[in-house]
This record gives sequence, C-alpha cells and structure tokens, in this order.
Amino acid sequence: MQLPLAAEIAEFDVDEDCLVIDSRRLTDIADEIGRTPFYLYSSVRIEARIQQLRDALPAAVHVRYAVKANPMPELVTRVAGLTDGLDVASAGELKTALASGMAPEHISFAGPGKSVEELRAAVDAGILVNVESPRELERLQQIARETGQRPRAAIRVNPDFELKKSGMKMAGGAKQFGIDAEVVPGVLTAWDDSIDFWGFHIFSGSQNLDSEIICDVQTKSVDLALSLSAHAPRPPRIVNIGGGFGIPYFPADRALDLAPVGRHLAGLAERLAKACPQAHLAVELGRYIVGEAGLYVCRVRERKISRGKVFLITDGGMHHHLSASGNFGQVIRRNFPVLVGNRVTGRERESVSVVGPLCTPLDLLADNMEMARAEEGDLIVVFQSGAYGLTASPIHFLSHPVAVERLL
Ligand SMILES: Cc1ncc(COP(=O)(O)O)c(C=O)c1O
Repeated sequence: MQLPLAAEIAEFDVDEDCLVIDSRRLTDIADEIGRTPFYLYSSVRIEARIQQLRDALPAAVHVRYAVKANPMPELVTRVAGLTDGLDVASAGELKTALASGMAPEHISFAGPGKSVEELRAAVDAGILVNVESPRELERLQQIARETGQRPRAAIRVNPDFELKKSGMKMAGGAKQFGIDAEVVPGVLTAWDDSIDFWGFHIFSGSQNLDSEIICDVQTKSVDLALSLSAHAPRPPRIVNIGGGFGIPYFPADRALDLAPVGRHLAGLAERLAKACPQAHLAVELGRYIVGEAGLYVCRVRERKISRGKVFLITDGGMHHHLSASGNFGQVIRRNFPVLVGNRVTGRERESVSVVGPLCTPLDLLADNMEMARAEEGDLIVVFQSGAYGLTASPIHFLSHPVAVERLL
C-alpha cells in the first residue's frame, strides 16, 4: 500500500494499520525486542538494493561499502558477502571490517587525522591506506622503517572540482580531506619505494540525486586519475571514484536514476581498461546501500499540549538519531519521513511535533508534521534511517573512542 509519505519512499506492507517489515508486524518485533528505542535494518531490502546495483552497474566496476554509513557488525558481515570491498574510517570500523570475513586486501581506510595507532593497525592488517596528507605519508614511511613492512597506500586526492547539488560536499576548494590535486604530482615524484603505491581515491561528496551531476564528476575523477598516473611510481591498480549516490528523504526528492549512471560507468571502465589495464574502477557507497533499509523506532511517553500545539514526547531523540533531528549537515531543518507505526493510516489525523527527552529544543524528530493521532505507548517510526543513524550520533560518531573525563 502507499504510505502517507513522499511518493518515492520504498513501499512497506501494512497489516491492520500496523507497519510490516520483512513480513513481521512492527508491534510484534517491538514486543520481542522488549524495549525502545531501537533501529531495525531489513536484510531483504539491503540485499535487493545491492542486486539493483549489480544489475545496473557493469561487472567491471567494484562496489565497495563505506562502513561509516552503518557499522553494525552483523550488517557489515551481511554486506561484506555481497560487495567487493569495504572502506573504513576508524580503528573501530577496521575491527568490524576485519571480523566480517572480507579479505584484508579488499579493505581500505580513508579519513583525515588517522592516529599512528590506527595507521599501524592498518599496516599490520595488510589493508590499503588512502593517504590524506603528506604528513600521513611520512608517518606511514616511519611505520615501514620501524616494522620492516611495506604498507599499501593510495592517494586520496582533493580535486579542484566539487559534486554540485550534494547534501555534503567533500572535495574542491580548501578541504581537510585528501591531498590537493596540484600537490599530488610532487608527492608522487618523490614517492619512496618503502610504500607500495596502489592508486587513487577521489571522493567528492555525499547524498546526490542527480545522475547527470554524478556522471559528470565520475568523468572528471577518471580524467584526473589518468593525468596524475603520469607522475606515479607505477601504474595504478585501483581508481576509486567515490559515489555520492543519494536517497530521497524529503517530499520534493526523487530517487536517483541508476540506469544512466551504470551506462556511463561502462564507458569509463572501458577507457580505464585501455589506459591502465591493471587498474579496476571502484565506487564506494554507504547511504545508497543501507539508508532505505533502516527504521528508527521510539515510543510515545507523553502527549503534551503547550498553548495549543501537540508534542509527542518520546523515549528517542537526537542522541540516537542526530541526522533526523536536523543537526547533521542540514542548513534548513526538514523532517525525515515519520509516522505512527501502529496507526499508519489512522483516520484521525493531527499536526504534531515529535521530540525526545533531552533538555534542548534541538531534540526534535519531527516538527509540525501531520500524522495519525498518537497516544502514550504508540510507536513512532523514522524512515530512511539505515545510514548515518546511530553511527553519526553522539557519542558513536564513526566508531571513534569516547573522550576521557577526569576530575582534578
Ligand atoms: C571517504 C568516504 N567514502 C564514502 C562515504 C560514503 O558516502 P555515502 O554514504 O554518501 O555513500 C563518505 C561519506 O562521507 C566518505 O567520506
């Protein structure tokens, strides 16, 4: 049935007004879990999404999963079995990736400010380090000298172009990510043989729904990698052009049309094969693989009316789901798709704000949104929550360790 949500949100079944996920009623799942809030991820949807990617993209293009989007260990293991590689962003994510069954040679580590301990762990595990700065390269060389190992590294390039109309731009201009493209030839020319050069990583941005813009940036990324290859100590073996494939969150969003991206990638893979036969082309996707497969579910603790406005005060909030609260990169806050999971289409409807129990007005899961009239104990569902949910919320951000506290 069509849910009262943006038309492009993947359809879910409904049984007697209760949401059904992977053939199970939400209320039954909540009873079994025994407490709220919780995140639910549908393996059926994740597998279907990866199959869609496999159908649309040429076989020559490797599909890598960016663990940062959702590092839940069982989920990573499931995805690892269906993809060609994993990209991690912290020592915590590296541990999860290594435990997933993915061979270390297909795991890479990108992210600014990697600690020496993280770099050592990466080298010891034999994974690929996407080097983000000349300083990081020096640290790798130091580790090579100290351990007698030959670290595998690719250069993450900060290109001079950006992924336009993206939820998050991570390239072009001055950035903390990658080595500026104009500096890369010098770094490559001075490349020291203690590090095994593998290729290039060019990640331009996240959350883009425009296939033309994505294709344009992919062409520019391959062009850039090919021109930088002329300075490399050996031909690249991997050209990772990132991804940025987005999912629809808001009423005006339309799902990304994958078919033109697949056709375009086929042409790029052919070009790369001719210029650098040893290299494979890779895309690195997080949100697109898991985002639409996940729900965040919390329970209404209280219906409160303040000066005529209805607040549903729940046991969930921004500490679990920073993205839905609008505090993770949204310039103007917009509501994620939210409904009452046990009264999906409920006839009596009202405009409400769904909030959490934190002492800040930022703790908002839905602002003035129309949904079925909810009562205490009802289940509030936030859709499109499979990516950048718990992992992008305080204090779990990218599985980095928490800060120490000390009273002196
Ligand atoms: C280096 C890198 N790879 C992959 C991703 C995943 O992006 P997305 O989840 O939009 O596919 C990100 C997102 O920030 C990133 O920084």
